[in-house]
Amino acid sequence: MPPAPADLVARYGSPLYVYDLAVVRARARALAGCISYQPFQPLYAIKANPCPAVVRAIVAEGYGIDAVSPGEVALALRCGVAADRILFTENNMTDAEQAQALAQGVLVNCGSLDRLERLAKAGARTASVRFNPDVGAGAHEKICTAGPMTKFGVHYSQVDQVAAIERATGIQVIGCHMHIGSGILDAGVYARAMAVILQVAARLPNLRFIDFGGGIGIPYRAEQQPMDLSALGAKASELMAAFAASYGRPLELRLEPGRFLVAEAGTLLTTVTSVKTNPDTAAAKGRTYVGCDTGFNHLVRVAMYEAFHRIDNLTRPDAPAAEVDVVGNICESGDVFARARSLPAPQLGDLLALRDAGAYGTAMASTYNTRPLPAEVVIDGDQVRLARRRQTVDELLEAWEW
Ligand code: LLP
Repeated sequence: MPPAPADLVARYGSPLYVYDLAVVRARARALAGCISYQPFQPLYAIKANPCPAVVRAIVAEGYGIDAVSPGEVALALRCGVAADRILFTENNMTDAEQAQALAQGVLVNCGSLDRLERLAKAGARTASVRFNPDVGAGAHEKICTAGPMTKFGVHYSQVDQVAAIERATGIQVIGCHMHIGSGILDAGVYARAMAVILQVAARLPNLRFIDFGGGIGIPYRAEQQPMDLSALGAKASELMAAFAASYGRPLELRLEPGRFLVAEAGTLLTTVTSVKTNPDTAAAKGRTYVGCDTGFNHLVRVAMYEAFHRIDNLTRPDAPAAEVDVVGNICESGDVFARARSLPAPQLGDLLALRDAGAYGTAMASTYNTRPLPAEVVIDGDQVRLARRRQTVDELLEAWEW
C-alpha cells in the first residue's frame, strides 16, 4: 500500500511534492511501445523534472537525456548517464559552455548557424542542428517553440547554409532536430512538422539520427482527450521508414518527451491556512478565497500559462460542493491556482492535492518572497524516499553578503 498523503505531510511537512515512480515507468513504457520503427532512441527532456530518482527511473527504461544547460548536463552525468547518451540542445550558449560540453564529450544540438560555425572552429567533429520547421504548436503561446515568432532553431529554409558550413569546415551534422512546442494533444500537427523536417534532412548527407523533439501533452482537464499515441507512433514510424529507405542507410529515430513522462506522476500537497468569504457588493458577488501554504513560487504554471490543474480536497472528499478561488501565500494578485472552482467545501487545515504537477512544477520553482523551496518525496511501490529536503530560510539567507 502506498502511504497516505496525510501521513506523508505529517512526516515531511507541507507543502510537499510527491512523485510516483510507477506512473513514470508506465508512461516511459507506453511511449517507447508506440514506436515500431527501429532503431529508436527516446530521450528524457530533463528540464521537466530533474529529481535524480525520477531521472534514474526513466534512464533505467532505456532513455537517454535531452539537456538544455550545463547544469542539466552535470545532473545527468551525476545520475550515471554516459556522455554519449546526452544531447545538449543549446539556446544562446556561451563559448565557455560550448568548451565545457566538448570536454565532456556531449553532442551539441545547435540552434543557430553562428553556433555551428563556432563549434567547428573549436574542433568539434560532429554536431546536431535544431531546425524550425515553421510549424508551431502548444497549449499556450509562451510554450510554442517553432513557427515565425520564435527564437529557437535554424529556419528550415536555411538548410543549405548548414550543408555549406559542413563542406567548408569538415564538421559533420549527424542529427536533424525539431521541437515545435509543448502540451500538444493533436498528432496531426506533429505529423506536418515531421514531414518538413524530413525534407530538411534529405539535404544533409551525414545524418545518423532524426529527433522529432518532445511536446506530447497530457489531459489536464477531465474533458480533454489524451494524445493518440498509437497514431503518433504509427505516423512517426511510417515517415521514418520511408525516409530511411530513400536516404540509403538506417537512421535512428529519437523523441524527447518531458511532460508526458512525469506530469501525471506528481502531486503538490498543500494545507489550507485560511478560508474567507467576502460580502456581496455592488461591484462583485462575494467570493470565497481558500488560502494555502504554497503559491506560484512552487507551481507557476497557472500564473504563467493560465494552465489548469485539477484540485482535490483530500481531507473531506464528500463535503458538499462550494465554489471557491484557491489562492496561494505570495504577495501578488496573480497568485491564484483556480478561480470559481467547485470543490468539496474546504475548511481550515484541510489537505488539498494539486494534480498533474510532476512536470515543470519544482523545476520552475523560485524563492520569491524569500520563501524556501518545498521538500520532494518519491514513492516507489510501498517505499517512500525523501528526494530533496525542504530548503530553510537560513540556506536562503546565507547566500547574501551581510
Ligand atoms: N525538447 C526541447 C528542446 C524542449 O525545449 C522541451 C521543452 C522538450 C523537449 C520537452 O517538452 P515537453 O515534452 O515537456 O512538452 N514550462 C512549460 C513547458 C515548457 C517546455 C519547454 N521546452 C509548462 O509548464 O507547460
